[in-house]
Amino acid sequence: MIALISDLHSNMEAIRAVLADIERRGVERVICLGDVIGYGPEPRAALKLVDGWEACLRGNHEEAVLHVADDFNEKAKTALDWTRNQLNDSAVPKEERYALWAIIDRMLVEHRLDSALLVHGSPRDPIREYILPRDAQDAKMMGAIFELIDRKACFVGHSHVPGVYARSGGFRPPSECADGVRVAEGDKVLINVGSVGQPRDGDCRASYVTWDGETAFFHRVEYDVEATAQKILRANGLPRYLAERLKVGR
Ligand SMILES: [Fe+2]
Repeated sequence: MIALISDLHSNMEAIRAVLADIERRGVERVICLGDVIGYGPEPRAALKLVDGWEACLRGNHEEAVLHVADDFNEKAKTALDWTRNQLNDSAVPKEERYALWAIIDRMLVEHRLDSALLVHGSPRDPIREYILPRDAQDAKMMGAIFELIDRKACFVGHSHVPGVYARSGGFRPPSECADGVRVAEGDKVLINVGSVGQPRDGDCRASYVTWDGETAFFHRVEYDVEATAQKILRANGLPRYLAERLKVGR
């Protein structure tokens, strides 16, 4: 069994709650599908935590902090600049700052297990492309994406909306997958694992998935949303809206 988590977004309360839940289930392997940083109040702590994991993918927020953020809106850009300043904070020892940038630089664009392809966005554009529930009706788009899935499952993050995209079309939210998502022999499935640190499906609890090579299970974990929201408000530079959205999961 392996736990697949994504979009941690510097939210240490959510990350710790999810890791405790994973440990409680006896799951020892954890892979992160990207966006460790961005939006949230503790980017340095989040990066240190994922360092040394089996694999951690590069999300669009890591790509943006390293290179350009052309596709970011104003609020996201403000948060990105704040995050970059945290990583470059001269109050932090130089060696520690270099180590943080090296962790980001080492992140993988894609990763394969025997049974699954892992990317942040989509197999076509691993870092930036969004696959949203409405795209499930776009047979051309989904056909092109499934064509690139060379395993029985593809796990993604990025949209912060968990659910299952079937090869035959259609999207199912986790509420319709209570018994798990079993991939039949010869079939393929694309699964969004949701977001740990900034869920956007109307449920403020942290989201993640476990996978045993045949069946995927969605999990939700309560965490201290108020504590993270307060840290965002005290961060001196992060937009207030980032604290408010955590409480409603949007
Ligand atoms: Fe994200």
